[in-house]
Amino acid sequence: MTSFRKGMLAGAALLIVVVLIVAVLAAMSGLYDVAADSPHLALTRAIIDYVRESSIESRAEDIKVPPLGNSRMVAAGAGHYDAMCTACHLAPDMADNEMRPGMNPKPPELAKMSVGDPAEQFWIVKHGIKMTAMPAWGPTHTDEEIWDIVAFLQKLPKLTPAQYRALVAASGKPDEDRMNMGH
Ligand code: HEC
Repeated sequence: MTSFRKGMLAGAALLIVVVLIVAVLAAMSGLYDVAADSPHLALTRAIIDYVRESSIESRAEDIKVPPLGNSRMVAAGAGHYDAMCTACHLAPDMADNEMRPGMNPKPPELAKMSVGDPAEQFWIVKHGIKMTAMPAWGPTHTDEEIWDIVAFLQKLPKLTPAQYRALVAASGKPDEDRMNMGH
């Protein structure tokens, strides 16, 4: 190895060590603000979004989507959604609550988004998303129940408030789902 190459390697190794030391010192000093009410830098936000999207896309790739048009599935999903999801994601015509404005990231209003990809929705609902408050519902729900929720999510953006309420009423809302949120 030439002495020029040796010098380059030693320089690169030194640089890595310095960067690591600076990173550890920054972490120890409390420099990073973990407050939910202090927004991410635009670059941090862009990186998080990119990592989330690639992660979900690659993990949802092999999920086989069953037929989702069945009205029993959609109604059952509406019952789960109304009991477990509305505190964070709201429902058609539902007023905002006192929790959502303080959340970072803020949960999207699913009724106001375009219809999402069903395989990705299944993965997200089953596994949740780290460090966002989006819970994994897989530990407490079967895959069949999660597909019911996805069947409902496919209809949600097109529902009027009256249609939403009718579906929830038709679901015979499962009692074990009811969470003590907002009471
Ligand atoms: C405690 C709050 C909370 C609850 C309860 C919750 N979510 Fe979420 N959810 C979030 C947050 C926050 C995000 C955004 C995550 C992000 O930005 O990466 C999210 C994201 C999602 C997404 C992805 C939306 C997109 O960007 O395409 C879906 C789908 C979703 N949630 C469905 C549900 C369903 C269905 C339920 C109920 C079974 C539920 N969530 C319950 C907080 C919640």
